[in-house]
Order: sequence, then structure tokens, then C-alpha cells
Amino acid sequence: MSQDSRAFRDALGHFATGVAVVTVRDPSGAPLGLTINSFASVSLNPPLVLWSLDRASDRFEAFMKAEYFGVNILGGESQALSHRLSRKGDSCLDGETLRRGPHGVPMLECAIAHFECRVEQRHDGGDHVIFVGRVLDCGHSGHGAPLVYYRGRYRALGEAD
Ligand SMILES: Cc1cc2nc3c(=O)[nH]c(=O)nc-3n(C[C@H](O)[C@H](O)[C@H](O)COP(=O)(O)O)c2cc1C
Repeated sequence: MSQDSRAFRDALGHFATGVAVVTVRDPSGAPLGLTINSFASVSLNPPLVLWSLDRASDRFEAFMKAEYFGVNILGGESQALSHRLSRKGDSCLDGETLRRGPHGVPMLECAIAHFECRVEQRHDGGDHVIFVGRVLDCGHSGHGAPLVYYRGRYRALGEAD
């Protein structure tokens, strides 16, 4: 990695984010997950969200072919799951408790909030593809602290003074 690229990544790392797992059913019907922190809200009316996918991801084809995806916001207890789903080739959700969303997307039972989306647009985003999704169903558990990612490490949320 060049020095400029390192500086860019380090600077981005100062933006504290939550952590989510995007879920999808691959063309064979198997549920897959990918850890992301590029999730953001876009529009309230219509309800739109976005996230970006690395073109080099081994899950790229599955997400490019899918009409629907899920965004599962992780709580503090889901650090191990987040870590596993950020490893190359480790996208399997077989060991997780899943429920089927109203539109057939595999959703994580452990999520503190969820959004089930239909792909509205895919945009070129350099070495990533930006997915804009229309939220068809959403909800939250009403409890549970979020998992936080900051400067390359998992953190817990603290109260501001
Ligand atoms: C906290 C965190 C956030 C991440 N955010 C994204 C993201 O927004 N988009 C993305 O494509 N990859 C993101 N990744 C990387 C993927 O999770 C990881 O590269 C991928 O799962 C590795 O396998 P693959 O490259 O074969 O898909 C993130 C990883 C971590 C740990």
C-alpha cells in the first residue's frame, strides 16, 4: 500500500461507525453475509439507504445478482460474528439463527436493528459498487448497545459528557 493510500485509510478510520452484516440469498438459495461499515441513510421519502461493496469481494457475484438484500445492525455481543464475516471466503450463515424477512431475505435474529431492501440502483464507485436500496421492511429490538468500529478496532459506545 502506498503512503498516500495508508494516509487515506488512516484518516477514514477516524470516522467512528457502527457495524452491519449485509445478507443475501445466493443464486443457489444459500444465505450469505458480509461485514460492512459503509452503511448510510440516504432518503426518508422514499426510504433509501446505501452501502458499498468491494469489487474484489468473493461475494461480489452473489450481491450483483440479487434483487433484495438485508442490512443487519450488530450489537456489542456480535463482535465474533463480525470478525468471521470479514474473513475472506467465510460468508456462510449456517450456524446463525436466521429468520426469513417478508421478502425472502435471510435476516440475523441477533441484529439490534434491521432493514430489508430491494436494490434501487447500483452505482460505479471506483473499486467499489455503491448499492442504493429501497427499505421495504425495518425494525429494531429496542435494546442492546451497538458494536462500534473506530481506527481499525472494535469499540463499545460510551456516554458523552
Ligand atoms: C468493520 C469492517 C467494515 C467493513 N466494511 C466493508 C464495506 O463497507 N464494504 C466491503 O466491501 N467490505 C467491507 N469490509 C471488508 C469485508 O468484510 C471483507 O473484506 C470481506 O468479507 C473479505 O472477504 P472478501 O474480500 O472475499 O469478500 C469491512 C470489514 C470490517 C472488519
